[in-house]
Amino acid sequence: MKILITGANGMLAKSVQERLKGNELICTDVADLDITNQQAVLEFVSKCKPDYIVNCAAYTAVDKAEEAGEIVEKINGEGPGNLAKAAQENNCVLVHISTDYVFGGELDLEKDYKEEDPKAPVTAYGITKLHGEEKIKENTDKYYIFRTAWLYGEGNNFVRTMLKLAETRDEISVVADQHGSPTYAEDLANIIGEAIEKQIPYGVYHATNQGYTTWYDFTKAIFEYTGIICQVNPVSTEEYIEMMKITQAKRPKNSQLSKEKLLAQQITVPEWEDALKRYLIKEKEM
Ligand SMILES: NC(=O)c1ccc[n+]([C@@H]2O[C@H](COP(=O)([O-])OP(=O)(O)OC[C@H]3O[C@@H](n4cnc5c(N)ncnc54)[C@H](O)[C@@H]3O)[C@@H](O)[C@H]2O)c1
Repeated sequence: MKILITGANGMLAKSVQERLKGNELICTDVADLDITNQQAVLEFVSKCKPDYIVNCAAYTAVDKAEEAGEIVEKINGEGPGNLAKAAQENNCVLVHISTDYVFGGELDLEKDYKEEDPKAPVTAYGITKLHGEEKIKENTDKYYIFRTAWLYGEGNNFVRTMLKLAETRDEISVVADQHGSPTYAEDLANIIGEAIEKQIPYGVYHATNQGYTTWYDFTKAIFEYTGIICQVNPVSTEEYIEMMKITQAKRPKNSQLSKEKLLAQQITVPEWEDALKRYLIKEKEM
C-alpha cells in the first residue's frame, strides 16, 4: 500500500512510520508539503496517488495557540480540509488525529465522552481542531478521525519531564483534578495500523489507552515503575497555575474518552499502565 504521512517529523508520526514500515511510505513535513497550501496539497496528492493519507500535522502548542492568530486555524482547521478534498478527488482514505479538546471537559466524572456527544471547545486549539473535523466531513466520506489525548512517545513529553524533574527534586506538585488516559504513541499508531488493515467502517473513533487516571496518579506510577523516590503532592489546576505563576489555556477536567466503538471493531487498546511500563523499558534501553 502507498501511504502519505504529513507532519512526519512529529511525535506520533514517528511511531506511525515504524508501525506502517512494511508499506510504501511517503513522509512529508511542512518543508516538503505545507498542508495549509490547498493547491500544493492537491498537486502533491494527485501526483503520488496514495491509498491512504495519514495526517499527523497540527499546531499542537495549546497555550501558544491562544495568541498565535490565524495560523492555528490554517493548520488545524483548513489543513485537514485541504487533505480531505485531495483525498476525495484522488479516491484515497484520509486518516486524521483529533483531540479530547473538542469537548468542553466539564462532563460529570462518572461519565466518559462518546464520539457523538455535544462539542463545546473553549480553547483556540480545541475550536480549530473541531473545525478540522468538520471540514473533513464536508469534503470526503472516506475518513477516519481518531480522537486521542495525553499523548507521549518519542521526543519531549510528560513522562520525560517528570523523570527529569525527579533528578533534582525530592518532591513535586502535580495536578490531580484533570482526568483522562495517558496514551502511548506506539499504541495509537497500532490502532491506526489495525484500522487500515482490518478496514473498519469509516468515521470518528476515540483512541486513547484504556483506563482513566489523573496526572498526579500517572506521575506516581512513573516513579513506582522506575523505582524513583520522589514525593508527589496533589494540587488543583488553580493551585498549580498560582504556584507556577503562569497563564494557561483552559484544560479539560474530564478528558475521559469511551473506547467502546473502537473495541467493537476488535481493535487492540492496551491499558495505560501496561503502555507506560513498555515505554519505560524502551526508554531505558535507549
Ligand atoms: N500531543 C498530545 O498530547 C495530543 C493530544 C491529543 C491529540 N493530539 C493530536 O495528535 C496529532 C499528533 O500530535 P503530535 O504531538 O505528534 O504533534 P507534533 O507537534 O509532535 O507534530 C506535529 C507536526 O506537524 C508539523 N506541521 C506543523 N504545521 C504544518 C504544516 N502547515 N504542514 C505540514 N506539517 C506541519 C510539524 O512540523 C510537526 O512535525 C495532532 O493532530 C494533535 O493535535 C496530540
